[in-house]
Amino acid sequence: MKALLLGSTLMAALVLQTGSNSPSAAAAVSAGKPAALSRQQQHQRVTDLTTLGRAMFFDQALSASGKQSCASCHSPEHAFGPPNNLPVQPGGRFLTLSGTRAVPSLRYMQNTPAFTEHYHDDDGDDSIDAGPTGGRTWDGRVDSAHEQARIPLLSTHEMGNASTGEVVNKLRAATYAPQLKALFGAQVFDDPERAFDAAMHALEVFQENPADFYPYSSKYDAFLRRQVKLTPQEMRGLSLFNDPDKGNCASCHISAVAPNGAFPQFTDYGLIALGAPRNREIPANANPQYVDLGLCGPERTDFMDRKDYCGLFKTPTLRNVALRQTFFHNGVFHSLDEVMRFYVERDTAPQKWYPRNRDRSLRKFDDLLPAYHANVNMEAPFGGKRGDKPVLSASEIQDVIAFMKTLTDGYQP
Ligand code: HEC
Ligand code: HEC
Repeated sequence: MKALLLGSTLMAALVLQTGSNSPSAAAAVSAGKPAALSRQQQHQRVTDLTTLGRAMFFDQALSASGKQSCASCHSPEHAFGPPNNLPVQPGGRFLTLSGTRAVPSLRYMQNTPAFTEHYHDDDGDDSIDAGPTGGRTWDGRVDSAHEQARIPLLSTHEMGNASTGEVVNKLRAATYAPQLKALFGAQVFDDPERAFDAAMHALEVFQENPADFYPYSSKYDAFLRRQVKLTPQEMRGLSLFNDPDKGNCASCHISAVAPNGAFPQFTDYGLIALGAPRNREIPANANPQYVDLGLCGPERTDFMDRKDYCGLFKTPTLRNVALRQTFFHNGVFHSLDEVMRFYVERDTAPQKWYPRNRDRSLRKFDDLLPAYHANVNMEAPFGGKRGDKPVLSASEIQDVIAFMKTLTDGYQP
């Protein structure tokens, strides 16, 4: 992507100048902001919006329970991912309800392309259709951080507000209400939709702040800048990660610097079915009729009739993955070791990962109806047949994990 080098905050500032119809610019304009600002004024505005968005991100008073902020689920100490090992987080008015999906990290989301069914990478061979790609959330159903923030604020099992009006009443009473007025006009609260939109814009700008959301301060970044060497084990892990016949991880979790010099995001944003085991710890899964099929629903409703899209979830970034204690869209795994063993044993030792039917036959891919099994990816590190040797040995697995640990931000030499 050509846009990779431009920070999106900078892009937001630039579109304000050119008047493009990006969501940020649209929000700024609809919020009654004059479009022509000097460079210095633009910079100041971004700084002020960031401060306001940060205050909102950490404000528990914005939830119906009064006890949950964005940061309760997107913990800053965990790269804005889940703070604990629960597969799904509690929420709702009394914090007694549960979500259905693991909390993703909010770091390195800034270049997520808008969802498309046919993705052509303009850095590589652009004649190749990489299939469904991009969008926010595990199923790519949201196209901007701006739209995204509506979901948790209004979802009954998350922050649990009944309406945008309820949120706006809380904003009006917040300590940062004067800043909202200063940035969006003294009358901002007169029209609740406008006030809500202004707040979403501030949250979005905060989530584009490089120091918080894409610092590129991991050991691997220092290695790419030739400031440090990786240990022999980390180097072995990196080559297994990249080797198409071994880990083959980099085919989806991109690890190389792009031709335009942009550092890798460790995802290609592709939606792929890996056949993760059903997670019986998720309360919604107590109902055997409930199945989370990602791209074909039920959260997403535009591809309900696309059988070939069932079971597809967006490839997450692996940056900061070692800070997580819960992995995959349904939080079914709790350590990197478990994830790695699943990758290499899913097809060679499926009996370790899937339950049995009453007749003792194995229910492989037990979270997908048989009609959707053909959607599951079979390339390395998957593939092979039951009893085959896994593509990575136990010590090679440890090497890849050692490499993934170099992707944690905040590295001090
Ligand atoms: C109760 C826990 C919870 C709270 C509170 C919460 N989130 Fe989330 N967030 C999630 C989950 C779970 C997902 C994944 C949803 C999905 O895939 O359907 C998510 C996804 C996201 C994404 C999309 C990331 C991606 O993959 O592109 C963004 C952005 C986001 N949240 C921002 C926020 C903001 C801003 C707030 C506060 C207004 C917030 N969240 C509050 C649980 C939470
Ligand atoms: C064909 C594409 C593909 C390949 C190859 C691949 N992954 Fe993934 N990876 C994904 C997708 C898609 C998910 C999310 C799956 C889900 O939630 O159902 C994922 C999830 C993960 C997670 C969990 C991250 C999180 O935040 O929950 C880790 C860790 C991971 N992969 C590591 C690896 C490693 C290491 C390799 C190589 C051994 C690898 N992956 C190979 C696509 C791929």
